[in-house]
Amino acid sequence: MTDWVKTAWRNKPRVQMPDYTDEAALNAVEAQLAKYPPLVFAGEARRLRRELAKAARGEAFLLQGGDCAESFAEFGADSIRDTFKVMLQMAMVLTFGAKVPVVKVGRMAGQFAKPRSAPTETTDGIELPSYRGDIINGFDFTPEARIPDPSRMLQAYTQAAASLNLLRAFSKGGFADIHRVHAWTLGFTESDEAEKYRDMANRIQDALDFMKAAGMTSDNNHELATVDFYTSHEALLLEYEEALTRVDSTTGATIAGSGHMIWIGDRTRQPDGAHVEFCRGVQNPIGLKCGPTTAAEDLKVLMEKLNPENEAGRLTLIARFGAGKVGDHLPRLIETVKSEGAQVVWSCDPMHGNTIKSDSGYKTRPFERVLQEVQEFFAVHRAEGTVPGGVHFEMTGKDVTECTGGLRALSDGDLSDRYHTACDPRLNASQSLELAFLVAEELQKGRTPEMIAASA
Ligand code: PEP
Ligand code: CO
Repeated sequence: MTDWVKTAWRNKPRVQMPDYTDEAALNAVEAQLAKYPPLVFAGEARRLRRELAKAARGEAFLLQGGDCAESFAEFGADSIRDTFKVMLQMAMVLTFGAKVPVVKVGRMAGQFAKPRSAPTETTDGIELPSYRGDIINGFDFTPEARIPDPSRMLQAYTQAAASLNLLRAFSKGGFADIHRVHAWTLGFTESDEAEKYRDMANRIQDALDFMKAAGMTSDNNHELATVDFYTSHEALLLEYEEALTRVDSTTGATIAGSGHMIWIGDRTRQPDGAHVEFCRGVQNPIGLKCGPTTAAEDLKVLMEKLNPENEAGRLTLIARFGAGKVGDHLPRLIETVKSEGAQVVWSCDPMHGNTIKSDSGYKTRPFERVLQEVQEFFAVHRAEGTVPGGVHFEMTGKDVTECTGGLRALSDGDLSDRYHTACDPRLNASQSLELAFLVAEELQKGRTPEMIAASA
């Protein structure tokens, strides 16, 4: 990309970004971050692109999930481990049920900045600027906390580095060894789907025992002992993203060093806006949220800008329309993609179109709406003959009560028990597992003998 510089976004209209009042402090933080090591390397981002290219063709499936917003207060090894464990369990359900390799991408180690629907919030008659994620301002409802503070970027970087370090250790250091498939069960998932998971784990264990007898163990088969796990976040705070941008010394390619994959949110996807300008120039895989207001004309321009070479694996379109609305929007956007001959991964985010305020006042997501959107997404792809390539959702390994429904039937009244999210309501471990079983079923329905042969 010769006509691009990492600072060009500064000349474009920007939305959803803070106005820092102390320019000197901001500049100092940017200079500091620019000297720090990148969190990810170009070769890793390229490998993820190759994996996603397979997902675009139906030879792999993207599983992207994690917090809506990571927070400084909740940071700790246990929550990282539990989310990672649930992702492993879900991946196992999909691999075993649908016989498809799963590309695992966390909304982790960098998911700190949040777009908001309103610039201010009012509580008890007091109006304050909205909370925009821990990398920007504080969650406490006080005027001081809500002032954007650039030094938060340094803390976010440190937390992301430590999170990624632990995730790399878990991925490669033995924790993710497939022989531990039983050990990933979380203590509190005593439910029908935990039972289903245990049955599946028994069958996997049987297969592993057979393989061991035939001479295949983790010691002589690296693939059994480790997983590839990637990180992702919304590239919202462009000062942070620019400061962590690096040029790969082997290829000369420019890479966002903040995470393996970055995405553009539904509120920041203006074709001539700052966020698209930044993302078009970095070589990482890019996600693009598509909502009910995504116009076909805009999508054409965005695909041309973000993936001019039309490479599979570069661009993932993350559909988030809301249950009951997928049929109104997905077919028209699939039509646009088809007419352009564009290579994309189609992923389904069944969370962001299904947020409601419950009677008790909590922001929640009815689990049956989440499942319904997933089913609609798969049904449209079956009807169109296109590939459903992945899912994207907000979840945690903790036993929270943020989304209603699920096999354990959380009610509105239960929400107050353990409602811990710093932003949107997340699926808990048991709801996540239930979702994975449903996705595996949907994937099985759509798999032709040719697809099964191709991924073997
Ligand atoms: C998100 O993924 O947290 C988010 C804000 O999504 P969207 O941009 O699709 O609303
Ligand atoms: Co969210």
